[in-house]
Amino acid sequence: MHHFNYKEDDLYCEEVNVSKIAEEVGTPFFLYSHATLTRHFEAFDKAFAEVPHLVCYSVKANSNLAVLRLFSGLGGGADIVSGGELFRAIKAGIDPDKIVYSGVGKKEEEMEYALKENILMFNVESHQELDALNTVAGRMGKKARISLRVNPDVDPKTHPYISTGLKQNKFGIPISDALSEYRYANSLENIEVVGVDCHIGSQLTQTQPFVDALKKVKALVLQLRDEGINIKYLDLGGGLGITYDEEEPPHPTDYGKAIIAETKDLGVILVFEPGRVIVGNAGVLVSKVTYTKEGEEKNFIIGDAGMNDLARPSLYGSYQGIMAVKKSDEALIVADVVGPICESGDFLAKDREVQPFKPGDLFAVASSGAYGFTMSSNYNSRRRAAEVMVKGDSFEVIREREEYSDLVKGEKIPSFL
Ligand code: LLP
Repeated sequence: MHHFNYKEDDLYCEEVNVSKIAEEVGTPFFLYSHATLTRHFEAFDKAFAEVPHLVCYSVKANSNLAVLRLFSGLGGGADIVSGGELFRAIKAGIDPDKIVYSGVGKKEEEMEYALKENILMFNVESHQELDALNTVAGRMGKKARISLRVNPDVDPKTHPYISTGLKQNKFGIPISDALSEYRYANSLENIEVVGVDCHIGSQLTQTQPFVDALKKVKALVLQLRDEGINIKYLDLGGGLGITYDEEEPPHPTDYGKAIIAETKDLGVILVFEPGRVIVGNAGVLVSKVTYTKEGEEKNFIIGDAGMNDLARPSLYGSYQGIMAVKKSDEALIVADVVGPICESGDFLAKDREVQPFKPGDLFAVASSGAYGFTMSSNYNSRRRAAEVMVKGDSFEVIREREEYSDLVKGEKIPSFL
């Protein structure tokens, strides 16, 4: 359920006409619905209401400060993967006691920063990282709370680029090595083992892979207990999918039921790192048609947003819906919706049935709230788009469109030129 709906022929975000925002803000811009963000966060959180749990929203999906502040106000924590994400989470007011830190390549300076902020735990992904964290914590006279991220070798049945829980993926510690690695971690002076962590991939549309992975890590938790290593937190990562096209992912309630059934006697605090399921369908990317072209074989709609603004269609060949901001009753045409970037891979939709848009018309790319702005770039020296949040009948810019001067920020012409 989201709050992007038509009133007569006009696309509205909550109570605001999207055309009106475009007039004031210019295009392209990302547009997020406060009510949808809230609803999705609460739906996820409520799915686990009957058990102790913590929702650590995955900052990488959408890291705007306003979005983070909203979730922190709803009791959310954060799943971070860099010093930069930690900086954002802290700045937005997220309680460090609710921050978990994942990622295969944490640098010492990032570990120091996170230890200084006293985050809840590090999800450690390798033996070397464990040693490095032990050293850094020792230097600071601290103990680092950790989970080991275990790779359970379960097929999440999703796009290969976003599957992480298979043997061939770079993530985590193979489940077969987990026990010995936990014994080692437990022997380190500046490490406190507090949890087990597992994240198998993103955009999962079935519950079964989650349950299969959970069964494996649950056995590990019990083994560790037998050895006197007490596990307080079980972090099950993120990964729940959304409907972009015709996918029918489980509702958070059903996902919740399946997880709770497997874990209710385990006596752990469940930690989740959802990203896409909360923000994905709470945002769209609004673009204006610059030109249209009838090629020899194809029709092209050339908009002012491209792969630098929204990389997912080009990068993964993924489907995102195209919605007219003002509907017409003309017959649909089949066209490629493309951007202005100098690459044939620059498209937002391919061979899609769309309204016969004309220059000046606005369209919205659906499901752009997750991995939209956060994956955008300045390629072709394009300024990154503005971001706007709607609440009820009002809206505010939550990130200004970049200026040309932002494009050269920090650049210097050296003295020898
Ligand atoms: N936790 C960890 C350790 C992760 O690596 C990820 C996503 C998440 C949580 C959040 O997963 P979610 O709930 O959003 O599925 N750029 C790709 C998605 C990459 C996901 C990377 N990791 C895309 O646009 O589809």
